[in-house]
Amino acid sequence: MKFNKEKLIKEAQQILVNNRRGKFSIPCSKLYPFQWNWDSGFVSLGFGHFNKKFAIEELESLFSGQWQNGMVPHIIFHSEKEKTYFPNYDFWGTEINAGASMKPRTSGITQPPVHGFVLEELVKQNPENEEILAFAKSIFPKIVHSHRFLYQYRDRDKDGLVFIFHPWESGRDNSPLWDESLDRIVIDPAKLRPYQRKDNTISDPSERPTQAQYDRYVYLLELGRVNAYDGPGIAAESPFLVQDSLINAILIKSNQSLINLGTQLNIDTKEIEEWQQQSLKTYQEKLWNEDLACFTGYDLRSEKQIKHKEIGGISSLFAEIPNQEQAKKINDYLMSLHHRDYFICPSFDVDSPLFDSKRYWRGPIWPQMNWMVHQGLKAYGYEATADIVKADLLELVSKLGFTEYFESQKSVVATIDKGYGGENFSWTASSVIDLIYNQ
Ligand code: GLC
Repeated sequence: MKFNKEKLIKEAQQILVNNRRGKFSIPCSKLYPFQWNWDSGFVSLGFGHFNKKFAIEELESLFSGQWQNGMVPHIIFHSEKEKTYFPNYDFWGTEINAGASMKPRTSGITQPPVHGFVLEELVKQNPENEEILAFAKSIFPKIVHSHRFLYQYRDRDKDGLVFIFHPWESGRDNSPLWDESLDRIVIDPAKLRPYQRKDNTISDPSERPTQAQYDRYVYLLELGRVNAYDGPGIAAESPFLVQDSLINAILIKSNQSLINLGTQLNIDTKEIEEWQQQSLKTYQEKLWNEDLACFTGYDLRSEKQIKHKEIGGISSLFAEIPNQEQAKKINDYLMSLHHRDYFICPSFDVDSPLFDSKRYWRGPIWPQMNWMVHQGLKAYGYEATADIVKADLLELVSKLGFTEYFESQKSVVATIDKGYGGENFSWTASSVIDLIYNQ
């Protein structure tokens, strides 16, 4: 398919500009009215190509909500008046932690630490730009501190892999990966704090997480809150305790970016190098599953791998974690899906009974994941597959709009004219801009 690249870029830039609210951006209007952690990393990457000031302000706004312990929260509630989102800042009640940001208010959990690699990309896009270099130097220690948070508070066994205690921290809210852990949670309706969700009144409920899942999200939020969001009680008590393949791959990628940048900017990176060595080693040893021919997450409660083939394990390519043989297996898998008439990369194993082509992280294609997998495939020299991953996303966006996520079955795409979830989505726009600029 031929794309009108100029038109796509123009539309994408307009979306990013329209989604700005003051000095930060929202993922899209209505559904997500605040600043989201990893979304804003991608937003900054997109702005880097055409508005450096906005790229810088995006990350500065995000880090204005960083906690003293280093955590960058998954949502920054820049406005306390906006009431259309649940759970809002008052439900999170982060004042329970003395080092939490109170201005702006925030949530109490984190998301994939993309900012290290985003910063490296910004510097690569603008190698001579004084403003970007000065910004890189000023934000560098804050990003390191956010990694320090993960290693200090989330590496229970000191093996280099960090845990999450809430599915939202993985960025893949309702992936089937979490089903087993969530099933462990017994909800006592009398004890669950009463709440009213908003997402399913704004978006099609059939594309959103179920009510049973939502009760469990609220249960885990509460467990975090009573433990001040960083207390040892979390690792001790949480029924959901996972070393996720994606968050750890992104951490490793960002560690490497910080090490590269440190050399360039003359900043000492010894601490990061030590983290990196151990993380890489444990990721390789603990998360590879030969039967699946992919990396997996690890459930720290049951002490076993979470055996599903999905986009988190595939994203290990982006951090250059797989050896050549493993990378080949992942590449072969993606090509097999392509030959079976799927757009790639679906977020979950299309052959699993748990696959759901419409429901959020249980199957659809996510633009920013394609962006990462594209980079990873290129790093291993799988140019042809990388080109397909890029072309598939551009085709989906051209046909179905800049939506949040997309159908993967070509037979279904032929019958629809709109993508899934929110419209005019920021990371969709950014991924398109960067994929087109970075030929
Ligand atoms: C959903 C996604 C998450 C994203 C957020 C805002 O919760 O699962 O990854 O950050 O929306 O776009």
